[in-house]
Amino acid sequence: MSALKNDTFLRALMRQPTEYTPTWLMRQAGRYLPEYCATRARAGSFLNLCKSPTLATEVTLQPLARYNLDAAILFSDILTVPDAMGLGLYFAEGEGPKFERPLREEWAIRNLQAPNPHDHLRYVIDAVAEIRRALDGSVPLIGFSGSPFTLSCYMIEGQGSDSYTEVKKMMYGRPDLMHHILEVTTRAVIDYLNAQIEAGAQAVMVFDSWGGMLSQAAYLEFSLPYMARIMAELTRERDGHVVPRIVFTKGGGLWLEKIAACGADAVGLDWTIDIGDARRRVEGKVALQGNMDPNILLTTPEAVAKEAEAVLTSYGHGTGHIFNLGHGISQFTPPENVSVLVETVREKSRAFHQAI
Ligand code: CP3
Repeated sequence: MSALKNDTFLRALMRQPTEYTPTWLMRQAGRYLPEYCATRARAGSFLNLCKSPTLATEVTLQPLARYNLDAAILFSDILTVPDAMGLGLYFAEGEGPKFERPLREEWAIRNLQAPNPHDHLRYVIDAVAEIRRALDGSVPLIGFSGSPFTLSCYMIEGQGSDSYTEVKKMMYGRPDLMHHILEVTTRAVIDYLNAQIEAGAQAVMVFDSWGGMLSQAAYLEFSLPYMARIMAELTRERDGHVVPRIVFTKGGGLWLEKIAACGADAVGLDWTIDIGDARRRVEGKVALQGNMDPNILLTTPEAVAKEAEAVLTSYGHGTGHIFNLGHGISQFTPPENVSVLVETVREKSRAFHQAI
């Protein structure tokens, strides 16, 4: 495989000097792009798209054809793992993801097994290899997984939720069962991410989208330690290169110092925290990824450029920043605004990387 032509993203993750601040965007391949909608229509459904390595490769590359992005992210979903555990993932039109068989009964919880990624998740591993070939060394490929806590939330609730009543009932009423689900899911995530690394993922990210709804004590018992275990068991080097890890707890700003000590190289931030304050708090221990509010992309090119510059200015001079949004891009984003964002960061960030 050819050497990387653009390793700016990997260098920033390891806090090495770069010429500018690298950018990628959560959900960069998605419904705001007409070409994504066309491929999804050909696939018949979102899940068919995920399950076809060729079509997943096609949509992974779409945002890179349009924009000067510094990384590709595997096109898939975090819920492929519980699907492979037999819970029956489906997407009801307009309602988001659901499971046919949510985890509620003790016998079902006791029977839960970590799937072999080469078996039930073969289509993801094949997609990673196919995307790497198609990228041909242009930019690095990010692999990903949900965090054990976030995956467990979906498995127990059977769908997204605002209150997480079923999860909290289990967490407080049967912590033994909750920990059992987390144990099995942690094993699954480690095997899954290591298989992605083996197949060619050059960095990995763990999405803890729901950790922020926990109390501090519950976060430190049910989410963070499992992510720390994943960090400790991931393959560190592949083909002579370090494989950097990013963790992202949405709503985790309060616990930033603790998250920064979990063994990750970088911490993803949502927009609620000022990235300059975050930088001071992590004291150079990790790189930071984020954190513009994705809703700004729904406004004007001028507002987008102004907010992008505000994030760069707040982070300040030097390496260790990967520009991103504080959460996934909205399907209602005008594609031209993404172009303004990416070009603004590319040009305006150079001044923050010159020697002083
Ligand atoms: O960032 C990328 O471009 C990579 C692809 C990616 C998707 N989902 C594609 C997707 C990634 C990294 C995810 C992660 C994911 N999936 C998370 C964690 C990040 C987060 O958003 O907090 C979560 C919680 C999920 C679960 C999930 N998948 C939900 C809640 C939804 C419905 C929301 C929506 O936008 O409709 C999905 C579907 C989904 N995953 C879509 C995409 C592009 C939209 C599906 C479609 O085409 O209809």
